[in-house]
Amino acid sequence: MEDKRYLTFALGKGRLAKKTLQLFEKIGITCEEINDEKTRRLIFVNEELKLRFFLAKGPDVPTYVEYGAADIGVVGKDTILEEARNIYEVLDLGFGKCRMCICGPEHAEELLKHHEQIRVATKYPRIARDYFYNKKHQTVEIIKLNGSIELAPIVGLSEVICDIVETGATLRENGLMVLEEVCPLSARMVVNQVSMKMEHERITKILYDLKSMIQE
Ligand code: PRP
Repeated sequence: MEDKRYLTFALGKGRLAKKTLQLFEKIGITCEEINDEKTRRLIFVNEELKLRFFLAKGPDVPTYVEYGAADIGVVGKDTILEEARNIYEVLDLGFGKCRMCICGPEHAEELLKHHEQIRVATKYPRIARDYFYNKKHQTVEIIKLNGSIELAPIVGLSEVICDIVETGATLRENGLMVLEEVCPLSARMVVNQVSMKMEHERITKILYDLKSMIQE
């Protein structure tokens, strides 16, 4: 048999990685070691299937895939939109569902309606800019934060935020609400553009198996 090269997967660390590995297991792609929470190893190999897996920070996954350091990646749609890398988005994995929304206190709704010059705090400046400038044609000031975005309108840093809403609990517990929806989000599979051609058969088979599992 000809020697296959390794297909490398980059998985966004955290909740998505766990669900991804559970889904992969269902189609016979296994990697026991990666589930060991105590290990400090960074890369995991399935010799039999010639597959390699590594965990990376979510925003780095599209970078690894664009440069071909990973053939395939699994990451949230939010990260794909924000990073805007040259990669193929090939499959919606159907989990990690949430929404990108403009949120704030109730009274901020008026500011949005009347296209006032407001401040928008967000971890996703590209998504926020695209939404306000290209879709709403509203001039805003975008303030980049790295987490706990809901704090911004509470302490007066911004009027609204552009952030992920999953259950809505964080908003509710902080007296904020969804004012506008930007787009729905979920976990997606992405593929390097050259790998898609060079490893077409293997990648297509994985996609086919995943699709049939997701539809069940
Ligand atoms: C995300 C997001 C919201 C929260 C939404 O934050 O930024 O804060 O989850 O979830 P909910 O609607 O179910 O309350 P994350 O926990 O990823 O941490 P972060 O604040 O560091 O971004």
